[in-house]
Amino acid sequence: MNILCIGDVIGASGCEFMMRHLPSLRKLYAVDLVIANGENSAEGNGLTPASADMLFNSGVDVITTGNHVFRRKEIYPALDENPRILRPANYPAATPGKGWTVVDTVKAQVCVINLLGTVFMDPIDSAFEAADAILASQGEGRLVIVDMHAEATSEKRALAFYLDGRVSAVFGTHTHVQTADEEILPHGTGFITDLGMTGPTLSVLGIDPQPIIRRFLTRLPSKFSNATTPCSLSGVLLDINTKTRQTNLINRIQVK
Ligand SMILES: [Fe+2]
Ligand SMILES: [Fe+2]
Repeated sequence: MNILCIGDVIGASGCEFMMRHLPSLRKLYAVDLVIANGENSAEGNGLTPASADMLFNSGVDVITTGNHVFRRKEIYPALDENPRILRPANYPAATPGKGWTVVDTVKAQVCVINLLGTVFMDPIDSAFEAADAILASQGEGRLVIVDMHAEATSEKRALAFYLDGRVSAVFGTHTHVQTADEEILPHGTGFITDLGMTGPTLSVLGIDPQPIIRRFLTRLPSKFSNATTPCSLSGVLLDINTKTRQTNLINRIQVK
């Protein structure tokens, strides 16, 4: 089966770009399931019910998130109520939402897990142990896809090797810059360190460069806003064998 994984969608322009291009991408690649990271999909960052609706309306099946997931309070009820919106599984149990879900597709049951890194990020429980606990609770025969939302390349690669052969694929998110290291690990797990982003390209990670440059020059607080330049979409397309649950092919996708 074909699973399209899309990097952090940035603001209204990123959501609109998804609306414009995802339906044809789904057809072109005969996509069975779309997973997109939506932690920056609201204007001003985070995820709102409106930005989640735009992503679902564009053809996304599961929205994953990351360190910005709790920025907008209006999304908290949906985190609890909508099984297709995830927050990282290794947040404390008392936080709204859940860190994994199972989607029934015509070809297979797919478990999607969302994890958050611990290196150069706020303190949180181990993503490795959270993954172990979720995998121990899964029934036989499910494909498992993991969004590891993390800063450090080493942590994402280490998690992928730790899960190699136990999950179908691991993709990294959060850095907003796509890496060129997509590969299939020795026991069949597809992996890329970072999917990249879906948003304005002439930007610093989706944000207008000028206030960011000012902050680096002066160290004074400055208000950031999304860039208004044309968008691109970044992600990977996975071809997964539903019998072996291994990745046959992993290809980077860029739409400009
Ligand atoms: Fe992000
Ligand atoms: Fe992030």
